[in-house]
Order: sequence, then structure tokens, then C-alpha cells
Amino acid sequence: MEALIKQIESEIRDVPDFPKEGIIFKDITPLFKNPKLIKEMVAYLKMQYKDAPIDAIAGIESRGFLLGVPLALALNVPFILIRKKGKLPCKTIAHSYQLEYGEATIEVHEDAIEPGQNVLIHDDLIATGGSASAAAELIKKLKGNVYGFNFLIELSFLNGEENLRDYSKNITSFVT
Ligand code: PRP
Ligand code: MG
Repeated sequence: MEALIKQIESEIRDVPDFPKEGIIFKDITPLFKNPKLIKEMVAYLKMQYKDAPIDAIAGIESRGFLLGVPLALALNVPFILIRKKGKLPCKTIAHSYQLEYGEATIEVHEDAIEPGQNVLIHDDLIATGGSASAAAELIKKLKGNVYGFNFLIELSFLNGEENLRDYSKNITSFVT
């Protein structure tokens, strides 16, 4: 596990002042140029969740789709798309949340899950936790249970996890 984390860390590229001055952007594109590493990450997650009662993985657009889909395949469960407003074609439910400046809305198809299903929410990164908690609200609106959250990267200095603990205590990341 330690060697895997070290390799993941070494292949995440810090990009200063993107998308604006003062922000250090975590670029995960180098990871996805390395199929062996992605396979090892998925294998690790498969082991981590092998006995967990997970009925579906919900990935948050767009970078949450990248690892979310192979994880769903590895666990042999459906993958649910949580998308930015106006992208999903059928009947949706929506949840809006505050950003640093303004507001964002995410949506999910209302038939994405069955009531009572256990859903693991996946995204590439947690910063404030705004996106992940909004995703959890969508799952709750569909009468699903939030089994937990999984991220590639947690920016722990922002304490985003605190916004998630009311939904589930099962919160994991490769890199913190
Ligand atoms: C980034 C990142 C997470 C979210 C984390 O997505 O991929 O989804 O922000 O921030 P939060 O914890 O403060 O909500 P972004 O909106 O940049 O879009 P993308 O995934 O489509 O690139
Ligand atoms: Mg994102």
C-alpha cells in the first residue's frame, strides 16, 4: 500500500496558479497515462470494498467518472452518473450548493437507483466537500443510503470531510 501511495503521489502534478492565482491545481492526467498504476489502484479499491454491501457507485462529473467506472466494473455494480445541470436527458432531480463565488447545481436521473440501495460516492478530489455532500443529498432524495465516500485526493487542510460525516463515516482517499 505504501509503495502504491508513493507512486500515486509522484504522478500527481502540482500546477501553481491554475485556474487562478494562488491555487495549486492537482493534475491527475499523468496517472491516467499509466495503465499499470490505474489497474493497481482499482485492484486495491476492489480489495478494500470486497465485503462491503455496495449496490452502486455514483461518480461526480467529470473527473469522478475516470476511476468511478473501472471501480464499478471491478465491484460488478452499476455506475451512476451525477452530472452538472442540464446534461442528463431524462427526468432528473437536482441539488444546488454554494461555491466560493456563486452557486452550482448537480443532477441525477430519478431512476438511477432503487430506494434502499447502498451507494458509494466517488470523486477524484475533495476540497471543501461541497460537491460530495451535494451528491449525497441527491442519493438521499432518491431514498438511497450513502454507504461512503472515496476520493483519489483529499485536501485535508480544507476539512471538507467534516461536511460529509453526517452522511457516512466511511470516507477514504489514497492521498491526503
Ligand atoms: C473539482 C474536483 C471535485 C470538486 C472538489 O471538480 O474534481 O469534483 O472540484 O471541490 P469541492 O470539494 O470544493 O466541491 P470541478 O468542478 O473542477 O470539475 P471537473 O471534475 O469537471 O474538472
Ligand atoms: Mg470534479
